[in-house]
Amino acid sequence: MKKIKVGIIGMGYIGESHIEAVRRIGCCELYAVADTNADLAKAKADYYGIEKCYSSVAELLADTDIDAVHNCTPNFLHLSINKEIIKSGKHLLSEKPLCMNYAEASELVELKKQHPDSVAAVNFNYRLNPMIQEIKNRIADGKIGDVRIMTGSYQQDWLLYDTDYSWRLEPEVSGNSCAIADIGSHWMDAVQHVTGHRITEVMADLKTLIPVRKKPKKQTETFTSNVPTEFDEVEIKNEDYGAVMFHTDKGATGVYHVSELAAGHGCYFNFEINGSKASLKWNQEENDRLWMGLRGDDNRFIIRDPNAISPAVKPYTALAMGHPEGWNDAFKGNIYAFYKFIEDGAKGEPIFATLEQAAYIVKLTEAVIESSKAKKWIEVK
Ligand SMILES: NC(=O)c1ccc[n+]([C@@H]2O[C@H](COP(=O)([O-])OP(=O)(O)OC[C@H]3O[C@@H](n4cnc5c(N)ncnc54)[C@H](O)[C@@H]3O)[C@@H](O)[C@H]2O)c1
Repeated sequence: MKKIKVGIIGMGYIGESHIEAVRRIGCCELYAVADTNADLAKAKADYYGIEKCYSSVAELLADTDIDAVHNCTPNFLHLSINKEIIKSGKHLLSEKPLCMNYAEASELVELKKQHPDSVAAVNFNYRLNPMIQEIKNRIADGKIGDVRIMTGSYQQDWLLYDTDYSWRLEPEVSGNSCAIADIGSHWMDAVQHVTGHRITEVMADLKTLIPVRKKPKKQTETFTSNVPTEFDEVEIKNEDYGAVMFHTDKGATGVYHVSELAAGHGCYFNFEINGSKASLKWNQEENDRLWMGLRGDDNRFIIRDPNAISPAVKPYTALAMGHPEGWNDAFKGNIYAFYKFIEDGAKGEPIFATLEQAAYIVKLTEAVIESSKAKKWIEVK
């Protein structure tokens, strides 16, 4: 069978993970990369032995051999580049958050309806961690009863010092949010995905705990800890901390917080779901296991094991028990789900995040910002 030829736009931090994931999937072939930083694009193409290398989106999209395109550029480019990809008729895998705001996200959803022959997805990659799928399956099978409470956090430390800087702090590049749009979006997507609930009301408290930062005069790589020698002191508008209480459409309640100022945490993404019979808890920093809590019986850890995992989860896990899979494997799982869906003729409900679902996360992010400003509960429809 002919392999799906893939082009990736944006060769920064996450572009590299996309390269590695695509190269591990049998039904597709990494064919081209593009970045406006032409030296960077060439360096990646040479290193990975990628056939085609472009320095603009237009050149890559004009290549008629390419079937699918990943958009790994900063948020402010998601609307314009995603639009071009959709109009080209190629399949789209966009990075999250889908857009800077809900008006942009709706525009993309509407445009996609006019191009029904291609598939579009948004890279909420945690969904395809096998243990997250295991949680989803156990909840659907009634193993924890009715979902009542969802709690957790997503904590990192890459903005801990005032010398740390990223475009995510700039509203013109990231949108009006840093922590919620960047990592809160993953948290909200994951709990909605595993429970089947929809968050419909939020009450938030956002803070910019470091209000002035040293912005390097020269652009630095995302998540680098290099201290700039030449910088400008700039006022920061986007939040580096946020706490959100919420209610869902099926009567559950929850609370989570996000922070990029939590020393010692690289990717402490965790959540606990309390049902009427049992609880399930998962933590990305020990992502190969999950905890099940029971009243009146032994609490237990469930270790990822392809021979014991729910049958529906098997395609998304490979290594034998005791050989821990990690972040990159789950990331590959999401991209594999996208290409498998295309290969199987795009039938049924996809497991990856659709444009509509990702647009709803953008809507929730906007409601969180509005709630924090107004200091009141905001309903989301
Ligand atoms: N799914 C995840 O877990 C995850 C993790 C990190 C980042 N992201 C998302 O990925 C996106 C990129 O983040 P990053 O950390 O890789 O950013 P980055 O700044 O490290 O990389 C962005 C790259 O895009 C290139 N670029 C900028 N404008 C371009 C254009 N017009 N055409 C082509 N290339 C262009 C830049 O030169 C740079 O190489 C963001 O939307 C971010 O939210 C997702």
